[in-house]
Amino acid sequence: MHASIAVMNTKGGVGKSTLVLALAETLSANHGKTVLVIDSDAQASVSSMLMTINSLHRLQTDGLTIVDFLVATVLNGESAAWSKFVVGNVSDVDDARSVYVLPSDMQLTLFEREVSKESLHGRLRTVISQLLAEVTSIFDIVLIDCPPGLSVLTECWLREADYHISPTKADYVSVCGLEVFRRFKSLNPEMGFAENLGVIVNMKDHSSTSDNEYHRWLADNPENRCFTDAVPRMGSLQDAARFRSPDRSFMAKYPGQIGAAVKALAAEVLVRLAAGKPREMRGKRAAQPTVLPPSGPAAAPAVADSMPLTTTIAGHETIAATADAADVVPANVVPANVAEPVPASVPGTFAPQVVVSKAAAQVEP
Ligand SMILES: Nc1ncnc2c1ncn2[C@@H]1O[C@H](COP(=O)(O)OP(=O)(O)OP(=O)(O)O)[C@@H](O)[C@H]1O
Ligand SMILES: [Mg+2]
Repeated sequence: MHASIAVMNTKGGVGKSTLVLALAETLSANHGKTVLVIDSDAQASVSSMLMTINSLHRLQTDGLTIVDFLVATVLNGESAAWSKFVVGNVSDVDDARSVYVLPSDMQLTLFEREVSKESLHGRLRTVISQLLAEVTSIFDIVLIDCPPGLSVLTECWLREADYHISPTKADYVSVCGLEVFRRFKSLNPEMGFAENLGVIVNMKDHSSTSDNEYHRWLADNPENRCFTDAVPRMGSLQDAARFRSPDRSFMAKYPGQIGAAVKALAAEVLVRLAAGKPREMRGKRAAQPTVLPPSGPAAAPAVADSMPLTTTIAGHETIAATADAADVVPANVVPANVAEPVPASVPGTFAPQVVVSKAAAQVEP
């Protein structure tokens, strides 16, 4: 079972990054899965939960983040192997050895601004599509930690990933965030969208009447596919955000009730993935082997089709970015950005070129 899952709610602070961390560590420690965490948030929250701050700063300074990968492939039209940017030896859980991260940097915001300014949405989507096709063939589970809101990059993950999971709090504003997301999903269905793997009610206070009412209301709507149990609000899960050295056991990091909750969640994710239909069978646009054209219209290939590459709003078609010749790539050719050989392509044996040192907070080649 190989799958990519975008963890998304347009509302901030609902526990997206916290649950990405907990799921990654639980799937690794308790199920032996190789998990790649893609940090797509300029806040780099989940990156900082998976390594020391010094290690993260070093990676950012050395140009080894998702921003550097995307700037090279999307803005500069260069070839860059994603494997160069995937970091190993992360997580402070001693039995979660198969967690990897593609870390982030605050410059992601500036990157997205450039994509919009240069109308490179098509090229961005092609790179994301190819990246997900490649990493999903190597890692068992790919978890994408999305920022709040709906940026051009987030839209690409949502259109190209296999599934999305939406954490929410059991309160009015967080549920409104889910509604915004649901309406966004209904726009331009022909462009493809990840399938809903479920809504996770997080930070639930079981003694609160209001929390119980919102939880029931969410669970009663089958479209939500709510996970069976809510994740309770607990200080130990808040503490899990802080990377510790030396490593600790899974039970020490996720004790008692919170350990049971994240284990139940991970187990249900696996059951739902096993029951899900593969992307191709859902009739979505399969990841096409594509080539990124060098910059400049002269070298650009012919436009394959005129499909809009970003969401359009009824009555506001003029804001839609339609692919231009420099952005659109023909199908069935090999992508330039993965032209370099990738290391081990056997699931479970990925060998990262970059690992971080936990004790000395150094980046080691
Ligand atoms: N079940 C929980 N119990 C207690 N605290 C929690 C729980 N889940 C998340 N938190 C805390 O809630 C805060 C927000 O969590 P987190 O950063 O994961 O949310 P987010 O949705 O990723 O936020 P953003 O939208 O800014 O990326 C953090 O302080 C986190 O530790
Ligand atoms: Mg977050």
